[in-house]
Amino acid sequence: MKRRPLSITLRLALLFAAVAVLAFLAVGAYLYQTLERQMSHRDDLELVSKVTQIRRILAALPSARALSGDAQPLADAMFGHSDFVLRLTAADGAPLLQSAAPSRPLPAPANAVPTQRAPTLADVRDWTPALGSGRMLNAVGLVGHDGGEAVQITLAREQSDRLKILRRYAADLLFAISFGAALATLLGFVIVRLGMRPLRSVVAKADAINTSRLNTRLSVDDAPVELRELGNAFNAMLDRLEDGVQRLSGFAADLAHDMRTPLNTLMVETQVALSRPRCIEEYQALLASNSEEYERLAHMIENTLFLARVDNAGLALQRERLDLGAELQRIHDYFEVLADEAGVTLRVDAPVLTLHADAMLLQRAVSNLLSNAMRHTPRGGAVELSARRTGEGIELVVSNEGSGIAAQDLPHIFERYYRADPARTTSAHSAGLGLAIVRAIMVLHDGQVRVESAPGATTRFFLIFGDTAQRLA
Ligand SMILES: Nc1ncnc2c1ncn2[C@@H]1O[C@H](COP(=O)(O)OP(=O)(O)OP(=O)(O)O)[C@@H](O)[C@H]1O
Ligand SMILES: [Mg+2]
Repeated sequence: MKRRPLSITLRLALLFAAVAVLAFLAVGAYLYQTLERQMSHRDDLELVSKVTQIRRILAALPSARALSGDAQPLADAMFGHSDFVLRLTAADGAPLLQSAAPSRPLPAPANAVPTQRAPTLADVRDWTPALGSGRMLNAVGLVGHDGGEAVQITLAREQSDRLKILRRYAADLLFAISFGAALATLLGFVIVRLGMRPLRSVVAKADAINTSRLNTRLSVDDAPVELRELGNAFNAMLDRLEDGVQRLSGFAADLAHDMRTPLNTLMVETQVALSRPRCIEEYQALLASNSEEYERLAHMIENTLFLARVDNAGLALQRERLDLGAELQRIHDYFEVLADEAGVTLRVDAPVLTLHADAMLLQRAVSNLLSNAMRHTPRGGAVELSARRTGEGIELVVSNEGSGIAAQDLPHIFERYYRADPARTTSAHSAGLGLAIVRAIMVLHDGQVRVESAPGATTRFFLIFGDTAQRLA
């Protein structure tokens, strides 16, 4: 199972805690070390001063033998220091005194401080008792004022109370650090949650948005800088969604509206015909009229489906090298009969040009333009189809004489279901989708469609296939 990523709140709180623990540990370690250094320094100083004191007591004694008899002055020197171990040996190695039994035997005296020099901190050495750590100092002392017998002094000390306390202090410190870290984690969590509040308000807003409330926008101005970019991107996405949904619902409404007219006609005509017995001819006329409406419906549905496929990118371009002259000639041949019927002259100027395009779609775009042109050309008029190479690429032009297009209609004629001339809506081939399809086809080809027209003037539609189409050709 895939692990869910940690929440940002938890992540930040944990990071916060980790930083706090590290900082506490560093400070704790520093405090502990300085304290320990100071305390061992004092312990060593004490060892040095004790040894100096013992030397003085030895000097005051009449003879080394006196030691075994009366060790009281030495015991006084050690008073209150049960952790000290004192050993005195004669020059020949004979033991003179051992104050207390150490947990591990003291080593033989070595590097002893000579009598003519006072002991210093540098003379203190490490000693390892059975438990913990220890320090020791070796020195030679003289018994009697006149510098008689030499005595080896060994003073050792197992870990002092001070250092034991320090160990406990370390344990306390660790406990405090753990507690502090826990507190820091908790506070971190609370702080991060507070900091995340704007984010949660964004989520709540986003939650409330649905298709019927797509006009809601996140207020970006009072949001923190970090969220502003997200908010802007989110709002831009909502703009696009709203636009898309609006177009989609408009599309559906238009489609329903446009299907209603032919369906109503079919219904009414059929009901009228059925209201009383009819002769064969009447039925035939009805079926012929119905067939025209069916055709119109089929045409509309087919075009709508085509546009839907283009919208959903479900339509793959099948570009191939086309001999443009031959393609235009083929279209011309197909439309010639229709032009004759309409009493319109159809002229085609098919130059030798190669175009890299989808043959079916090209034919469809040009046919849509031609059928519009023929419909809007009065009897005796002319429709022209031509192609040429320009700076922009290859340009196809369909032009016709006729009523032209009013300035207020020009910006809209490429919209779906837009018809500039409502009087013609009853025609079997007028759904207002033809030019929308032309534009979609040109967009698929990375090209453009343009129109030039004015009331009463020649209308020209331009299909411009850009450089890519030329380069690939
Ligand atoms: N050559 C033209 N001369 C004058 N008006 C035109 C011309 N071509 C198009 N129009 C206007 O533009 C409108 C939109 O054209 P479009 O081809 O999209 O729809 P349509 O021809 O009405 O229906 P469809 O092509 O779906 O059967 C037309 O209704 C018409 O009013
Ligand atoms: Mg049309």
